[in-house]
Amino acid sequence: MTEVTEVFGLAVDVVTDMLTAATLAPSLHNTQPWRFRLAPDRIELHPDAARVLPATDPEHRELRLSCGAALYNLRLALRRHGVRPLVTLMPGADAPGALATIRRGGHDVLDAETRELAKAVPARRTNRKPFRDVPVPVRHRHALVRAAERERSWLHVVTDRDERARLQRLVATAHHIQSGNADVRTELAEWTGTRTDDGIPTTSAGVRPEPQDEWALRDFQARQRPPGKDYESDPLVVVLCSYYEGPLAELQAGQALQRVLLTATTLGLSASFMSQVIEVRPVREELRRALGGSLEPQTVLRIGYGSLVPASPRRPVHELLLEPTAASHTP
Ligand SMILES: Cc1cc2nc3c(=O)[nH]c(=O)nc-3n(C[C@H](O)[C@H](O)[C@H](O)COP(=O)(O)O)c2cc1C
Repeated sequence: MTEVTEVFGLAVDVVTDMLTAATLAPSLHNTQPWRFRLAPDRIELHPDAARVLPATDPEHRELRLSCGAALYNLRLALRRHGVRPLVTLMPGADAPGALATIRRGGHDVLDAETRELAKAVPARRTNRKPFRDVPVPVRHRHALVRAAERERSWLHVVTDRDERARLQRLVATAHHIQSGNADVRTELAEWTGTRTDDGIPTTSAGVRPEPQDEWALRDFQARQRPPGKDYESDPLVVVLCSYYEGPLAELQAGQALQRVLLTATTLGLSASFMSQVIEVRPVREELRRALGGSLEPQTVLRIGYGSLVPASPRRPVHELLLEPTAASHTP
């Protein structure tokens, strides 16, 4: 089958760099559940069905959040190359099976904020280590809330003490339920430690959770915690929400998630996730009710000032490309 040599008039090696940027997005257990199909006039983003986690993410919600985050990185990379991305989410018959198609919507001039966000893409990483006991300034909180708003989502900041205690209980409950689920434990073990291009290496695992921790974080088989290296007492905790439910909202929330994380990176902040509370359906329902019943919680983040952590691995772009379709060659 003939290869696609240009996309939007850009050479394939430029497009490969852009797709590399897309793959730097976060994904559940670093499964990187995305694939791409190139055509001269569009890029299709597809889910990778082989990378679904049926026990942890039975509805593929987090798969779509991850793909939404990759889509946001791709949008930034395109804008960096002067292409205004025109995105269709869930395009249906236009690109069967795709989560999104991106076409060229004209020329783009990069503004300072977009340039900073694009620069943050390779610097961002999930930081599971304890943060410094320094509060996140209110103006930074506002910037994070704005970042979610700009991607048509809502960032709920947990400030109230009672609400915080309730969320801690919900996270602990969900964590406990998942710890008792052999299939969830197997998936966690499969994606932890010994893989090369994906999964969570020990170097990214943070420190080993201990019973006295206020927030129940996932155990990725981190090394034993050195004495005195406890978690910060008061991280900023936020719940990223969409305004409605379903695949489209999840793809939207994934883009918002990435914009929030990149904005945090530009502000010198680190983040990690507490997704158990979203993955265990009855607990997510309880969180939904606690948020007032009209917002759909999509992910929970812990944010603060962290030390440097290494990057986790990524698959090479050539492994992610789907065969061009016959239509892909039509000029
Ligand atoms: C939807 C989603 C859910 C995640 N949930 C968790 C989680 O519960 N705990 C955790 O430590 N990391 C979680 N992560 C972070 C991923 O493990 C992380 O993105 C991946 O290992 C790649 O590492 P990086 O973010 O440093 O590039 C989640 C990421 C996404 C996108």
